[in-house]
Amino acid sequence: MYKFKIRGKAKKLKGITSVSGSKNAGLPIMAATLLAAGNYTINNVPNIIDIRTMAELLSILGSKVEFKNHELKIHTDSCICYEAPYDLVKRMRASIYVLGPLVARCGKARVSFPGGCALGARPINLHLEGLQKLGTNVEIEHGYINAEAKKLHGNEIIFEQRSVGATANILMASVLADGTTIIRNAACEPEINALADFLIKMGAKIEGVGTDCLTVNGGQNLHPADVSLIPDRIETGTLLLAAAITKGEITVKNCCPSDLGIVLEKLREIGFSVNVNNDSITISGKGKNPIEISTNPYPAFPTDLQAPFASLLSTIKGKSIIDENIFSDRFMYISELQRLGADIKLDKNRIVIHGGNQLTGAPLMASDIRAAAALVIAALASEGETEISRVYHLDRGYERLENKLAQLGADIKRVEDN
Ligand code: UD1
Repeated sequence: MYKFKIRGKAKKLKGITSVSGSKNAGLPIMAATLLAAGNYTINNVPNIIDIRTMAELLSILGSKVEFKNHELKIHTDSCICYEAPYDLVKRMRASIYVLGPLVARCGKARVSFPGGCALGARPINLHLEGLQKLGTNVEIEHGYINAEAKKLHGNEIIFEQRSVGATANILMASVLADGTTIIRNAACEPEINALADFLIKMGAKIEGVGTDCLTVNGGQNLHPADVSLIPDRIETGTLLLAAAITKGEITVKNCCPSDLGIVLEKLREIGFSVNVNNDSITISGKGKNPIEISTNPYPAFPTDLQAPFASLLSTIKGKSIIDENIFSDRFMYISELQRLGADIKLDKNRIVIHGGNQLTGAPLMASDIRAAAALVIAALASEGETEISRVYHLDRGYERLENKLAQLGADIKRVEDN
């Protein structure tokens, strides 16, 4: 177990850094390799716990996986197992991504039912209802989802709510289903587009990529494909916020600025100067304006940057408001920011921040990936030393964030936590 020791306040971040490949694009793409036997190479893969957990799950299902220097080589066997055990699903909810591909390829799947998590209740009804519409028989027994289908058949699926995970699962199942599937009110996050592009490379016929209506002409002969992962937009945002809170000036390279439209707009509204090039973003200046943010499905403001923005807004004088509309309970970090002296209150799903207090270092505990990132950002602006324990949450989604921040001048160390 590790913790971070961070000494903040005096250090303005400065320099150039580079963003890793996207975790949330990598996980469904890895699951999609279950759809056709053969050899796959995935590049620009972040070396983080969640990717290694998915690699472990694929190995249990019968694939051979090698992961070196940000390159994943996956060999999917012609015969695969169909059970995703509790031990892995409880470590990472995105394990549910194997459900669609397994039913489509093997005609059955047994996947542990994911429970709640630190973000509150996280149902999977949309995944299951979608699979049922494609002809899957679904039963829940002893904590497992037993899914069976002789053959999947295309259908029209109208999601009553936009879901990244359900869209990905149904998309992966429908490419092997007979006939046409239309997915309405589909998520159109960049990671969904990346998955769809990968499936098209494998031979799938998908129209409407980038919109909320996907049309799949299923039943094509799929084959393996190679891919390089898109840049991680949430890591990009995290690095920009880390610089912003220190009033520093950094350039983030190898990123995709167009995936961060509203995030960059909000940073400008606060008062930062944000300059965009093809694949890099430079942030500088000082923030002075409090703002209002509402999280919603893409292209609206991403829930994954809600907590990191709350840290920044705690240092901006005036009243800021954040409405969290995606996850009912994504607020566990608030009591930790209060320990640093932030004036931040929660009312149902609304956070009200009276910013501008000088934060002061304290021992803190991370509760999930993005909460951990928020605490690191806040610590960079806090006077004195902040210790953050349970950084394994951060390591699930960020590859050595402390090295990137240290290279930009932050005083941050990873130490053993006994
Ligand atoms: C993904 C991302 C996560 C991000 C989230 C929202 C991955 C691995 N994770 O999570 O980082 O924060 O999108 O952008 O990519 N819902 C239902 N029933 C379902 C499924 C979802 O009610 O069957 C609800 C959820 O409770 C939530 C909303 O739909 O309120 C959106 O969740 P969803 O988009 O599915 O999030 P994930 O795919 O789990």
